[in-house]
Amino acid sequence: MKWLARAVVALGASTRVCAATALCGSDCRVPTTQCPTEGTNNTFCANAWNSDGKGYQCLDVGDDEQSFVATFHWTSLPVYIVHSYPHVKLGSPLLPLQFHDIGSLQVNAEWGMNLDAGPTPAPNLTLDTAGLTKTQCRANVALDIWADVDPAKAGNETVAGMEIMVWLGVFGDVQPLGWDKKSHNAPRLKLGDHSFTLFVGSAEAGRSTYTWMPDRNYTSFSHDISPLIQYLWKNKLVPADAYIGTVSFGSESFFASDPIAFTAESLLMNITSESGVPIPVCNSPAGKHQPPSLLSMAVSFLIPLFVLSIC
Ligand SMILES: *[C@@H]1O[C@H](CO)[C@@H](O)[C@H](O)[C@H]1NC(C)=O
Ligand SMILES: *[C@@H]1O[C@H](CO)[C@@H](O)[C@H](O)[C@H]1NC(C)=O
Ligand SMILES: *[C@@H]1O[C@H](CO)[C@@H](O)[C@H](O)[C@H]1NC(C)=O
Ligand SMILES: *[C@@H]1O[C@H](CO)[C@@H](O)[C@H](O)[C@H]1NC(C)=O
Ligand SMILES: *[C@@H]1O[C@H](CO)[C@@H](O)[C@H](O)[C@H]1NC(C)=O
Repeated sequence: MKWLARAVVALGASTRVCAATALCGSDCRVPTTQCPTEGTNNTFCANAWNSDGKGYQCLDVGDDEQSFVATFHWTSLPVYIVHSYPHVKLGSPLLPLQFHDIGSLQVNAEWGMNLDAGPTPAPNLTLDTAGLTKTQCRANVALDIWADVDPAKAGNETVAGMEIMVWLGVFGDVQPLGWDKKSHNAPRLKLGDHSFTLFVGSAEAGRSTYTWMPDRNYTSFSHDISPLIQYLWKNKLVPADAYIGTVSFGSESFFASDPIAFTAESLLMNITSESGVPIPVCNSPAGKHQPPSLLSMAVSFLIPLFVLSIC
């Protein structure tokens, strides 16, 4: 795997300009082909949606499209303001998908959080606890899922009425909306050995937030997280027929006194539907017809009348 170099430009004490090949600020990289390999049809965004104008957010995508290194440096006060959410967003023709129709939502990721090692950082999956403490790093590692009763709004983060998060890492005591440290009644769910606690809150414009908090930093994760979503509609916290519109994996970055590198590898997000809506079979850019995906084949056994859609 090749990693792209980034340039350091000495404009100020710690100012870095992302290299032309890296995503910077609000840049995104959308899938370049109509029909890439299954599981890699994803959009990568640096997503400095709330820049303080002084720091930066860069994101280098690995050639395998299943890894990235995101580097941030935000130093302004107060320390509890989120500035960026560098992430990869799942590209699936199944979205928007109704809550009650989610069959599975597999999420695989290996990640690390370190002091940025310089302009050409090697992907580093270590969790540098000492460095994160020294720099007062405030960040999380989290899945971000947007939803709405209106499918047209579910995929639009400006207007979607519900936000579901699953945090996998927590640094510097950052807290989700609705956080209540003293609550002993907060719902708790297990995914294998992993334990998550739910906090319900609300944000601007009447948006409801549902955050599953981890009991540990899960740097190596491979689970079907759909039970965390099913819990919400089965307990009537969200309408069963509302739609999830987007699913992303990344890191909300708040503050650090020195540049921090967030590395993610072996990324996979894969959503399937309960009712067996097929994933389209596509023509490859070279014009060759790709074999149906495993899911399409599995589905075609269940639904003999299923029609292949060509994208
Ligand atoms: C890839 O993503 C594009 C844009 O989100 C979507 O239109 C297309 O259906 C996706 N293709 C596959 C095979 O997931
Ligand atoms: C990864 O990070 C750790 C802790 O920051 C550091 O000790 C180690 O040298 C780094 N490894 C590489 C290959 O850069
Ligand atoms: C999201 O909704 C806002 C407000 O209605 C609109 O201005 C914007 O264009 C929408 N974005 C997309 C990607 O549809
Ligand atoms: C994650 O690691 C940081 C740094 O070591 C630590 O402060 C924090 O408590 C950990 N988070 C959880 C949920 O254990
Ligand atoms: C997605 O999940 C389905 C159902 O479990 C599976 O058949 C398919 O191979 C998975 N796709 C990827 C890219 O892992």
